[in-house]
Amino acid sequence: MRLRRKPWIDKALTEVLESYLYMEKLERFRGQWQQRFPGKEICLEIGCGKGRFITGMAALHPEKAFIGIETARDVAFFAARKAKEAGLTNVCILYGNAEHVEEWFAEGEVAQLYLNFSDPWPKARHAKRRLTHHNFLARYEKLLAPGGSLHFKTDNRALFDFSLEEFRAYGMELTAISFDLHHSKYENEVQTEYEERFSSAGTPINFCEAHFKQRQKA
Ligand SMILES: C[S@@+](CC[C@H](N)C(=O)[O-])C[C@H]1O[C@@H](n2cnc3c(N)ncnc32)[C@H](O)[C@@H]1O
Repeated sequence: MRLRRKPWIDKALTEVLESYLYMEKLERFRGQWQQRFPGKEICLEIGCGKGRFITGMAALHPEKAFIGIETARDVAFFAARKAKEAGLTNVCILYGNAEHVEEWFAEGEVAQLYLNFSDPWPKARHAKRRLTHHNFLARYEKLLAPGGSLHFKTDNRALFDFSLEEFRAYGMELTAISFDLHHSKYENEVQTEYEERFSSAGTPINFCEAHFKQRQKA
């Protein structure tokens, strides 16, 4: 998601910094998320964009906490501002690249993981940047608690097919697959910004739920 540079954001950032938006020393939170959100199940969206999904989910589920990771600074700001304006106390945004997610979350600290309309990176030489590439799956496996699942939505059929292959090759169990989520039996509580845009243009939305298999500890 590209935005034209908006200098006013530099000032506005301070209104959400260290309350809804964290930009520095994110490793301080590793293993400490229960202190930040006591008693709440931790849900994580990677590539949260302007935050429509996580703020919508947070409003519906006050018993859970929703953390968004976003690598575009101004986009992360908009997500944080949306959470603040909605008066939500169970949301925050981490500004950074999900490549570092293991530095910010301890093993098993996340109950539920969401990837919504991830950038497709269509060129084969960029496949490692796709958030469903097996290098990312190895990171997610560590931070997801036993029984936790990954929910993935995308308009992009090529990315979806690639992702299903990656999930299967990694040994994940696929417990739901739909090539047309909005006309399926699966629940879809909140639409993301991209989802609304694509579905209103008639593009079917692909969805799957995947679980990591429990591995025996050595
Ligand atoms: C296509 S947008 C989708 C935004 C939102 N999830 C939605 O469905 O409306 C993808 C977002 O993921 C972010 N993103 C891409 N790669 C990322 C990464 N490695 N770590 C964190 N965010 C990333 C981009 O900056 C962009 O805002």
